[in-house]
Amino acid sequence: MAWRIAASPLCEKLIVAPGNPGIAAEPKVTCIPVAADAVPELVAAAVSEKADLVVCGPEVALCAGLGDAMRAAGLPFFGPSRAAAEIEGSKAFAKRLMYQAGVPTAAFGVFDDLGAAEAFIDAQPGPVVVKADGLAAGKGVVVASSKQESRLAARHMLTGGAFGGAGRRVVLEQRLTGREVSLLALCDGERLALLPSSEDHKTLRDGDQGPNTGGMGTYSPSPLLDAAAEQRILETIFRPTVIALAAAGRPFQGLLYGGLMLTPDRGPMVIEWNCRFGDPETQSVLMRLDEDLLPWLAGVAAGRLPSGALRVKPGTACCVVLAADGYPERTRLGDPITGLPAPADDLRVFHAGTRRDGDRLLTAGGRVLGVTARGADLGAARARAYDAIQKIAFDGMHFRRDIGLRLDVAGVGLAEPAAGGERNPPGVPGDH
Ligand code: AMP
Ligand code: GLY
Repeated sequence: MAWRIAASPLCEKLIVAPGNPGIAAEPKVTCIPVAADAVPELVAAAVSEKADLVVCGPEVALCAGLGDAMRAAGLPFFGPSRAAAEIEGSKAFAKRLMYQAGVPTAAFGVFDDLGAAEAFIDAQPGPVVVKADGLAAGKGVVVASSKQESRLAARHMLTGGAFGGAGRRVVLEQRLTGREVSLLALCDGERLALLPSSEDHKTLRDGDQGPNTGGMGTYSPSPLLDAAAEQRILETIFRPTVIALAAAGRPFQGLLYGGLMLTPDRGPMVIEWNCRFGDPETQSVLMRLDEDLLPWLAGVAAGRLPSGALRVKPGTACCVVLAADGYPERTRLGDPITGLPAPADDLRVFHAGTRRDGDRLLTAGGRVLGVTARGADLGAARARAYDAIQKIAFDGMHFRRDIGLRLDVAGVGLAEPAAGGERNPPGVPGDH
């Protein structure tokens, strides 16, 4: 995001808190040592700089009320209020909103009592997905394959303190099958503008094995959606959600991220909403944007999205995440990184968990770098990204080798439910 904002002819100066060595290397950028969720310090910095626009990346700051505080200080702000950010900050809130608005999503119940949760699990026909209600950096979801596993996960969260406060309430959901797609849309409270589609590989290991992570790699566009399918998802999933948020007094101004499952029998259904750009979807999506992003962000902040569609470059982009030793369980930090390529029009290495120590670049987080390439097609984009990776090195570096290889489209569900069929199954939600 910093790369695209700084590249705008409308941008004179970009101050990033806290940023990282990759961001600091962009022209026009100054990084300041303020944490991304330090609300009063961020407001003070934006006021003293007389910022023309404040853009927020992470959900933690939005859920902590950064948008409300910035707007109260009179600053134009890109990102939802705390109340609207609940669409990501509380899975229970999101599920109830969708249920009421008729937005297709898995059958669910919300529980803070273990006995009631176990009774719900036992009453379901199949295994149940267990989700911490609050924010857990993409790791608070257990996709169980047996009832025993669902029960253990619910116990772990509700009484074992897993995910701290975020897990004191759980959402239990029917397990859906199908292919996943990420769709991102800019929203000014009312109007929506879709960004190009993408697919994330969320699990740690090749072949979609291993624990869930924040995301190990992406490509854009998704071959599963054509323009007509995107429009249908916009009208049947995004639009009713945005209308329901506004009707609840929580108009959404920012980036609305739909994590969708294309189910064979019931069409596209919502797995999750995020209230910010996805990581690492954004790396692939913004690599393809053929547009100055800044007027769009400013338009969202002003409640006046520019008209028309966002222009996109042809071809495909692919982002491969390089992760640190032990990620996601026991991440080791501080390993020196070497071999980064110079940025080119079709290749950029985005930094995530890095820091500078003198003239050395060190690992400083679980997902360290996002190697992102664009090509005429997916094969070319993959080849360019994986070729660049061969020269990059740090101790313990690991990554998936199959980003973009999930191309079989058989059995993907784009169907609408049959006429008169119910979007959401009967008998839910079970609130306890
Ligand atoms: P979330 O953080 O809600 O996106 O969940 C993380 C991942 O868990 C998703 O990307 C899906 O792969 C999987 N998942 C979440 N909910 C369900 C569900 N109801 N059925 C099947 N898989 C799910
Ligand atoms: N890549 C998933 C997310 O940003 O939540």
